[in-house]
Amino acid sequence: MSTLGIPKILLIGSDGQLGWELHRCLAPVGQVIAASLDGVHGPAVDLADAGSLRRLFDAVAPDVVVNAAAYTAVDKAETEIELAMAINAAAPALIAELAAATGIPVVHYSTDFVFSGHTDHPYREVDTPQPLSVYGKSKLAGEQALLNSAAKALVLRTAWLYGVRGSNFLLTMRRLFGERSQLRVVDDQIGTPTWSRMLAEVTANILYRLVQGDLDIDQVQGLYHVTSGGAISWCGFAKAICEGVGADCQIIPIPSSEYQAPAQRPAYSVLDTAHFRDTFGLVLPDWRQSLTLCLDDLKH
Ligand SMILES: NC(=O)c1ccc[n+]([C@@H]2O[C@H](COP(=O)([O-])OP(=O)(O)OC[C@H]3O[C@@H](n4cnc5c(N)ncnc54)[C@H](OP(=O)(O)O)[C@@H]3O)[C@@H](O)[C@H]2O)c1
Repeated sequence: MSTLGIPKILLIGSDGQLGWELHRCLAPVGQVIAASLDGVHGPAVDLADAGSLRRLFDAVAPDVVVNAAAYTAVDKAETEIELAMAINAAAPALIAELAAATGIPVVHYSTDFVFSGHTDHPYREVDTPQPLSVYGKSKLAGEQALLNSAAKALVLRTAWLYGVRGSNFLLTMRRLFGERSQLRVVDDQIGTPTWSRMLAEVTANILYRLVQGDLDIDQVQGLYHVTSGGAISWCGFAKAICEGVGADCQIIPIPSSEYQAPAQRPAYSVLDTAHFRDTFGLVLPDWRQSLTLCLDDLKH
């Protein structure tokens, strides 16, 4: 605890899309120590360097850790295998070790890309992962390292994150609508667009209840699927964004086979969020509702 008895929350990856939202949403929960690769708003940390992570824990002595940092370049990971594994698998394993040593809770994020997509019903936490890409494999190794450790971990698998900051589909589409009159977008991958702000808000809500003692980490630790509600293809999502921003662009559906990407993506990666909703009693709004709010934010 800080000298004022306020919990010290070590946020790793505070400059990422989700980390940026967490930095703001976690402020009422405790003292946020915002660590990032560049150390812009707090200490610098490189998850690819075990020494750097150990020094960060020693210096901060956190009460809670939230890890929003990751190697997220899905296609590049196919050739940068070692780096992806170091950041997404070895670093979470070390975070687990360091958190277990002091018994502090850890929140970590994983991905729908741990699944193969060879199904037509929403994936549950008990379903067997079968990642198709290096990124998916590295994220699966990271979540397993935490879940199989002595750390008190909440691993939140999410999907198709977008928001007002960072590199994401919504911002890319919005830019392209201004540059092109026609766009070809993949229509045979189905998932759930999830606003990074919504994920940060539910994380803050859970952490608040944990630090207040209203939730017991021993009771709730484990793996959860956390996305918005509903499902759509990338093409459907692009059309909704186009309509939402009032752009005049023809969006043409194409199969994944026409959009050659180095990493294979699951054709269907909708996550069943019932376990999360039942455990924490939180509502996860439909993706269209969140998109409307996020687009409103972008207008101002
Ligand atoms: N984006 C999605 O669609 C999506 C979907 C499902 C799950 N997730 C998961 O959700 C979490 C948050 O993703 P996001 O979209 O916020 O990703 P993001 O915007 O790419 O942010 C990741 C952050 O990690 C940082 N980082 C990368 N390498 C690092 C290193 N060696 N040491 C320290 N920091 C490092 C990045 O810094 P730089 O920017 O300086 O490299 C960036 O700030 C991740 O666990 C991701 O796997 C994301």
